[in-house]
Amino acid sequence: MNITFRQLQIFEAVARYLSYTRASEALHLTQPAVSMQIKQLEQSVGLPLFEQLGKKVFLTDAGQEFSRYAKAITAQLEELEQVVNEMKGLQRGRLTIAVASTANYFAPRLLAMFCQQHGEVTVSLDVTNREQLLKGLVENRTDLVIMGQPPEEMDLVAERFMENPLVVIAPPDHPLVTASKIPLERLHEETFLVREQGSGTRSAVERFFAANQLALSTAMEMSSNEAIKQGVAAGLGLGIVSLHTLGMELALKHLVILDVVNFPIMRYWYIVYRSGKRLSLVAQAFQNFVKEESARILEAAAV
Ligand code: PGA
Repeated sequence: MNITFRQLQIFEAVARYLSYTRASEALHLTQPAVSMQIKQLEQSVGLPLFEQLGKKVFLTDAGQEFSRYAKAITAQLEELEQVVNEMKGLQRGRLTIAVASTANYFAPRLLAMFCQQHGEVTVSLDVTNREQLLKGLVENRTDLVIMGQPPEEMDLVAERFMENPLVVIAPPDHPLVTASKIPLERLHEETFLVREQGSGTRSAVERFFAANQLALSTAMEMSSNEAIKQGVAAGLGLGIVSLHTLGMELALKHLVILDVVNFPIMRYWYIVYRSGKRLSLVAQAFQNFVKEESARILEAAAV
């Protein structure tokens, strides 16, 4: 197979946008130039990579396979570029990090402090749930991830750096607000707003209820901590969220933490990367920074 990196790049753009027009705009090429390169690529491969049905472009089965390898090759090339830059002493690297939706309540603060110390760093931050974070690690899309405990069966390096207590929240006029040492069984009478499938908070809550042989009665499923807090404040049900997501709401008394026996559920934050991944100098510096400084910085900011 005789293919060029340029063809791979063009293929990736068309596969990403599923549009020749958008790919040509992104690459600053004309559309005929893009079509021509894809045609030549398909000739070298000996199979069609795209099919056009009406106005829509789709990847063929061969195209999907090709896409998987093209991504891996591009990631390796980017890594090579980074290594070469470091060898040139530029060290002005790029840091690609992804954090759990819940960690986004403190991660930007850490990044801000880190960037103050390393002026030349460009950061790309992706905020998503646990399931997507794990997928990103498998696909080698990110340098470092901040998340709850990763699954043991995955080949990852994970270092624990901070506690993540999950607490029960209620609106200020809820009858349990004044109660102390609320027995766990009492929660059985309440309905809960829970995070979406794939959320680490959600699975920790489900595991906790199952371990205590209690059924979790779900009023609604919501895809962000913000939606849960708003829903609880509006009286739609109780919620279980990370203490890190609550700042203003407690201060302004829009929400109250209930004193339930066996709470908080104690989770921990981990900084994670794929074992075998060659971390850039910047990524190594950020990993050390998180391990050594985060607790102090976040305590000072009362997160
Ligand atoms: P989540 O992750 O934002 O996906 O709930 C947090 C965690 O893993 O505890």
